[in-house]
Amino acid sequence: MGRKQQCFLRTFGCQMNAKDSEKLRGILRETGFSLTESEDADLVLYNTCTVRENANLKVYGHLGYLSNLKKKNPRMIIALCGCMMQEPDVVAKLQKSYRFVNLIFGTHNIFKFAELLYAVLEGQRKAEQMMLPEPSGAAAAAEETPPISQRHTVVKTPMIVDIWKDTNQVVEDLPADRTYSFKSGVNIMYGCNNFCTYCIVPYVRGRERSRRPEDIIREIEQLSADGVIEVMLLGQNVNSYGKTLSNSVSFAHLLEMVEQVPGIRRIRFMTSHPKDLSDELIEVMKRSQKVCRHLHLPLQSGSSRILEKMNRRYTKEQYLELAAKLRREIPDISLTTDIIVGFPGETEEDFQETLDVVRQVRYDSAFTFIYSKRTGTPAAAMEEQVPDDIVKDRFQRLLGLVQEISQKMAKRVEGQTLPALVESLDDHDPALMTGRLSNNLLVHFPGTEDLIGQIVDVRLTTCKGFYYLGEMA
Ligand code: SAH
Ligand code: SF4
Ligand code: F3S
Repeated sequence: MGRKQQCFLRTFGCQMNAKDSEKLRGILRETGFSLTESEDADLVLYNTCTVRENANLKVYGHLGYLSNLKKKNPRMIIALCGCMMQEPDVVAKLQKSYRFVNLIFGTHNIFKFAELLYAVLEGQRKAEQMMLPEPSGAAAAAEETPPISQRHTVVKTPMIVDIWKDTNQVVEDLPADRTYSFKSGVNIMYGCNNFCTYCIVPYVRGRERSRRPEDIIREIEQLSADGVIEVMLLGQNVNSYGKTLSNSVSFAHLLEMVEQVPGIRRIRFMTSHPKDLSDELIEVMKRSQKVCRHLHLPLQSGSSRILEKMNRRYTKEQYLELAAKLRREIPDISLTTDIIVGFPGETEEDFQETLDVVRQVRYDSAFTFIYSKRTGTPAAAMEEQVPDDIVKDRFQRLLGLVQEISQKMAKRVEGQTLPALVESLDDHDPALMTGRLSNNLLVHFPGTEDLIGQIVDVRLTTCKGFYYLGEMA
């Protein structure tokens, strides 16, 4: 078309998807695309999430908007990938009612993106050629056919669908375009074997498989050479890292290996399952200068009865003991969590147990979710789904308590001077910089853009509830 093709990429969901999108961007760059902020692009790619129903609804909503854009620009390519595409019902619905989508692929074959895109472009080219008027006689010779890019015909190309159910393959060395120059997520494992009964992730991300430690370390060495000083190790349950490897390495040991990589100054990880969190990990965190003072430890429910129905494989008492041990061994640790309200069969008493755990653990922050029924999961078939109004009321009560406690917890470090990794300009005030403390709290302080990517000491002068105002020490 005489110009570089432009792609708009939208990412839904968690850090896994954010990391996959970095790979998709890398592939796009290598394929010759540039990225644009405008949705009116040559290629629109959505990397989707399906963990809760509203994640799906958002995608369908956006697709409605895209269909209008495509009416004006029929050559626009619309591609969908990510977790939602791993659900056969979703693909069937798209094939039936969203025929304007050109390409659907899943979480297991991201590495094929360029090839699939090429197939779409080829399909489009062939469809356009078939629509060319047959050159015949003198008329054809006199009147030149305009180049394809100047024709405005609706080009009907077949929808390409390539979904793999699962894979035990780990594809290394995909290109990636990182969002930040100084910090990066690093996959250490893929998939999940836990099958919590409410959760769709094991179905859409497949069986758990760990990357080999040498591949992880090699990637982190390359990142470090490229200026990265903070890594976030990613997995659905990092504490079971290594179980699928022949010469099994524990997660705690992997952390120690990452600590040795020159240039890496901060290490984070997501997510820890309480059932697998080892004393060895607590020891490594305790003595480490690099592992951040933050642990995300999803509770889901405080009721042992509900935890059993959720297949979480710990009790309220075991969780409380673990949290107490963490607070005792690492006093400056920040504990955060995920909680689901309204799991089938949850009674007011069960809910009170959840509030009790929140009060005892005193979370530094908590993500609270209303239970969402996911087709195909065991919980979706359970009786006693809790009525909406009751769930909403519980959700509000939980949110109130969580916020009250996290504001008090944030105050713990008021007046202290702590190192912060400067991440960006403040969203609201360009004279301020935004930095992240080891415990994951944000601090805004006067500074200049050249500080971005550096770790600086900041005095935390004023606690504003969930964040700080400060000044460089
Ligand atoms: N592997 C991670 C988190 C994956 S999903 C872990 O085990 O913690 C992130 C969070 O979404 C979960 O912790 C859970 O709180 C929430 N979630 C998952 N499925 C849900 C559902 N069906 N309804 C509501 N919340 C859900
Ligand atoms: Fe879902 Fe449970 Fe796996 Fe987390 S551990 S991804 S909540 S099944
Ligand atoms: Fe969503 Fe998939 Fe993550 S379902 S939460 S993007 S693993």
